[in-house]
Amino acid sequence: MTRSLKNILVTGGAGFIGANFIHYVFNKTDFSGTIVNLDALTYCGNLESLADIEAQYGVSAGGKARYFFEKADICDRAAVDSILKKYNIDTIVHFAAESHVDRSILGPEAFAKTNVMGTFTLLDAAKNYWKAEDGTIPENFLFHHVSTDEVYGSLGETGYFCETTPYDPRSPYSASKASSDHMVMAYFHTFGLPITLSNCSNNYGPYQFPEKLIPLMILNIKGGKNLPVYGDGKNIRDWLFVEDHNSAVWTIMNKGTTGEKYNIGGENEWENIRLLEKLMEIVAGELKMNLDDVKKTIVHVKDRPGHDRRYAIDCTKLKTQLGWKQSVTFEEGLRATVKWYLSSTDWVNHVQSGEYTKWIDKNYSAR
Ligand code: NAD
Ligand code: TYD
Repeated sequence: MTRSLKNILVTGGAGFIGANFIHYVFNKTDFSGTIVNLDALTYCGNLESLADIEAQYGVSAGGKARYFFEKADICDRAAVDSILKKYNIDTIVHFAAESHVDRSILGPEAFAKTNVMGTFTLLDAAKNYWKAEDGTIPENFLFHHVSTDEVYGSLGETGYFCETTPYDPRSPYSASKASSDHMVMAYFHTFGLPITLSNCSNNYGPYQFPEKLIPLMILNIKGGKNLPVYGDGKNIRDWLFVEDHNSAVWTIMNKGTTGEKYNIGGENEWENIRLLEKLMEIVAGELKMNLDDVKKTIVHVKDRPGHDRRYAIDCTKLKTQLGWKQSVTFEEGLRATVKWYLSSTDWVNHVQSGEYTKWIDKNYSAR
């Protein structure tokens, strides 16, 4: 089955993966409908990441707009209800979340609010909005929930997470995402809400807020700052280029079976310290820095509490059932990402100075 997607609500479209998703759909697919980006613009929501999309497809571009932005919180039921109706939404792809593990250790409440209650609010609004008079929900509706492999917990030296691996979340972030996954499945089994769900490994690429490992290290290497490695640096993550995550999400939205979950992964495991060595080599090469000097800036700092040791994804189901595959190698993706952070000086400077939070006032004030 291939779904007909017309008016898509993207939650969290001003964040890292959501902004890349909107670029992907407009630039790399034959989608001809409308995208509505619902985002609360928390610290990592950045509309500058979508300035080109706004200029080409937004209201200010003139002509028939195909991209709309709505500043709203997914916990605000009245706002969600009204946006679903206003744009005649038939598809929801839910990226909005608190996403950083370290922040979830310092302040878990925001994770419970947005990831648990926000997802519940969105699901319940979707169910009521779509329910026909006979109480059923039309088949042509879809709620796709974007989740993480961290819900499965931590692996030892061997083995992989597959779709049937029992949930065993360890951080407030992964526990809140696990809870949201269960609620999504509950709305499918109990109310028949047409859902699909994906659990992806660590993403990297343009527009990622520089609190996460890869952009943080690129910018710290460039700035000659310390490179903080948690613990022994031997924790392992499975890295996937963000555009390949989004092509997988798009494939599932179009062809995935309702009620099913799919793992998405890079089949690309790296110890943090090895990855950092690779990044130092690429950045130093690009900037003609002395690699030995850069290496001296590595600092082993206190480990993250409850630090998951290894993640590794088995994504056979997605590859064999829906025909998805990655488009770039890690070497290509990492080099492209480094070049993007080194050349996107306005975006980086505005994030580092806080200037990015003013983009909405400058660009949407006339509306
Ligand atoms: P991000 O932190 O970069 O962006 C999150 C976006 O959600 C921001 O634009 C923010 O303003 C918005 N948001 C936060 N709270 C909101 C609320 N209450 N209402 C409306 N909008 C709100 O996150 P990301 O890295 O782009 O992750 C997107 C999704 O993908 C998340 O659900 C995350 O769990 C999942 N995921 C991320 C990764 C990864 O490596 N980054 C891997 C797998 C899954
Ligand atoms: P992160 O990008 O925060 O993603 P996640 O915790 O969701 O996997 O971190 C990736 C890995 O890098 C993780 O094992 C923690 C480690 N890390 C560091 O060693 N130093 C850092 O400064 C950061 C941000 C992460």
